[in-house]
Amino acid sequence: MKGCILAGGLGSRLFPLTKITNKHLLPVYDRPMIYYPIECLVNAGIDDIMIVTGGRKSGDFLELLGNGKDFGLKHLNYTYQEGEGGIAAALSLCEHWAKGSPLCVVLGDNIIERNIRKAVANFKEQKQGGKILLKEVHDPERFGVATLSGDKVLRIVEKPKNPESNLAVIGIYMYDGRVWDIIKTLKPSDRGELEITDVNNWYIQDGSLTCEVLEGWWTDAGTPKSLHQSACLVANGGANRLD
Ligand code: G1P
Repeated sequence: MKGCILAGGLGSRLFPLTKITNKHLLPVYDRPMIYYPIECLVNAGIDDIMIVTGGRKSGDFLELLGNGKDFGLKHLNYTYQEGEGGIAAALSLCEHWAKGSPLCVVLGDNIIERNIRKAVANFKEQKQGGKILLKEVHDPERFGVATLSGDKVLRIVEKPKNPESNLAVIGIYMYDGRVWDIIKTLKPSDRGELEITDVNNWYIQDGSLTCEVLEGWWTDAGTPKSLHQSACLVANGGANRLD
């Protein structure tokens, strides 16, 4: 299984912090933000990793991370996203590298308390399809929101005004090798982006999307409030715990 970390974009919700640098290079307590998703993948046994970057100071990723020695890696792959096109557009830059391999995608500003080992192991057992991870939140309108029937996902709505549940779709996704052709069929959303939610809804229609509720806390770090909250959560007990 391969891992992709999406760390491009302009980080406009964090202006002026991101006026001169990439959001994922900003500190979250004692480490740069990009350290957390790398550690998340490595903890799940995924060591073949591609980082998609772009926007400002993208060269700094190479200087900061090199070949990933700090994470016990021998090599890291990098690719560059020109402009902004959404999560699915950023992901499509990994096609040539991932080919038919199953993939775990992590958004570069998502931080978790524990680990995704069990979810990754379960996905490996799944013959085909995708897997999403969910977390109950008090502000679902900020996220993709899933409606379930039992443990089956019926639909996902991106940033709904009137959410049907409080289950946010977190920024960690697993896909089979069909994802590349699915992305090619997407049309830009109202915010002008190729939405990862549309990819997930494709797998729902296909009947092959599974979901799990994540254990431990989860946060994104893409707004001033959530960036501050992530630093507090990390300071109060650390992230990416192995237990
Ligand atoms: C993205 C996804 C959304 C998901 C969120 C998790 O939102 O579009 O479905 O819930 O990441 O962090 P964005 O950060 O692009 O607003």
